[in-house]
Amino acid sequence: MEHELVGIVDFGGQYTQLIARRVREANVYCEILMPDVGPDRLRGRGLKGLILSGGPASVYAPGAPRCDPKIFDLGVPVLGICYGMQLFCLALGSRVKAAKDREFGRTDLRITNGSPLFKGVPRRTAVWMSHGDRVETPSREFQVLAATRNCANAAVRHRERPLYGVQFHPEVVHTPQGGRILRNFLYGICGCSGDWKTSSVIEQAIGDIRAAVGTKGRVICGLSGGVDSSVAATLVHRAIGDRLTCVFVDNGLLRHGELESVKRLFRDQLHLNLVVADAADEFLGRLKGVTDPEKKRKIIGHVFIDVFAREAKRVRGAQFLAQGTLYPDVIESRSAFGGPSAVIKTHHNVGGLPKRLKFKLIEPLRHLFKDEVRLIGRELGLPSRQVDRQPFPGPGLAVRCLGPLSKPRLDLLRRADTIVTAEIEKAGLHSKLWQYFAVLLPVSTVGVMGDERTYDNVIAVRAVSSVDGMTADWARLPNDVLETISSRIVNEVKGLNRVVYDISSKPPSTIEWE
Ligand code: XMP
Repeated sequence: MEHELVGIVDFGGQYTQLIARRVREANVYCEILMPDVGPDRLRGRGLKGLILSGGPASVYAPGAPRCDPKIFDLGVPVLGICYGMQLFCLALGSRVKAAKDREFGRTDLRITNGSPLFKGVPRRTAVWMSHGDRVETPSREFQVLAATRNCANAAVRHRERPLYGVQFHPEVVHTPQGGRILRNFLYGICGCSGDWKTSSVIEQAIGDIRAAVGTKGRVICGLSGGVDSSVAATLVHRAIGDRLTCVFVDNGLLRHGELESVKRLFRDQLHLNLVVADAADEFLGRLKGVTDPEKKRKIIGHVFIDVFAREAKRVRGAQFLAQGTLYPDVIESRSAFGGPSAVIKTHHNVGGLPKRLKFKLIEPLRHLFKDEVRLIGRELGLPSRQVDRQPFPGPGLAVRCLGPLSKPRLDLLRRADTIVTAEIEKAGLHSKLWQYFAVLLPVSTVGVMGDERTYDNVIAVRAVSSVDGMTADWARLPNDVLETISSRIVNEVKGLNRVVYDISSKPPSTIEWE
């Protein structure tokens, strides 16, 4: 079953993925495309419309990214946002120039001419602007639809063709009518029917898995305990039942109770074939004496692959490997400009096992954003503690136990972490936080307990709010919660005599300490 498709041509704008998520939220399937995408790639795929994204370049600068003009001949409506609007306005004879007053942030939009794009939108409404250039003089082919104080041509439409342009960003939350404007485009102008629904996505994924695996094929899936691999495994299980075997590697770096909860959910409740590889000694052995964060990460990545490959060999006849790869990992066009960013931390995840393992890949989530995966997880009946789980790094507690790793130190950290988690959840703060956890520091400090001197370890508490983990702010936890956390840790966990609270945001710090 093919879904209706809206193509989003990416000119490197910071909000391109956000546009895609908004379109999906409006129940329309969309894909992010490179600027040079040709019409052949889109023909015969149920294409209903095109959105041209924003971007950092100036459309009149030499080397500015353009799109293949033949895509305009596909006959579908086009919405240009910011750079996208300026691009076709320039191509059709308008003048685009650097604005005297650049416009960033919230501003008032006045709608001067009604159009299907603004159906139901009040004549005055707030919009979010982020531009240095603007369409100075639109050519005669265009009718102006709206203006702001600094931008007389804040929205335009072509007089004959279904070509619309907006200088502002309808995809960001600061444009309160943005959702309506995008839906007007998708439904009123492109004529989409809204066929991208969780239930149909699940149905299609199950059909695709069955078609790929056949009636006899066997699949293995590495479970990390996280959302993506859990949802991927559950989908594959729905599709082929017992022919799926899940492998969970116990690396000795898990949080308290994590192994048990994975077993309870996948083995007892969902009745999946679950193999647990007890590899804690192997991991800790290979990590002995290692303190450098990058070395820790690399070793954990290698040992994981060794252990997983060994377990996979034991699953007789498995030719397929299911992975929870998400859409943001496979979008060709990250940005029309930016190269790969500097490696800050080498990520180790269950996804991305090396090709030498020689499995055919099954990636049922490769078209989905994280929020869609959560919706699907819920619809598949996974409990909310699994679906809304806070992110946990692949290298686990290794990057929260600073300095050398050992079982006693990891146990200290686990006990403190359990208290941090419990108290934050008890205070009902967890739904507002991105992550909250304990970190064991590699220093000892002096304390006094009863009448005795102690010389023990320090725990740092980290709690952050964030939208996507790319930036984060330290959480202003209530003092009484911090007080309870601190006194419980020091009183209940022997070997810890001091608790500090991390008040750094990201950037310049990172969320994890290593
Ligand atoms: P940082 O510490 O870079 O982390 O601010 C950003 C987000 O990524 C998580 N994180 C990881 N996730 N494998 C993962 O799957 C990793 O190796 C890894 N390292 C950090 C971190 O918990 C935060 O949510």
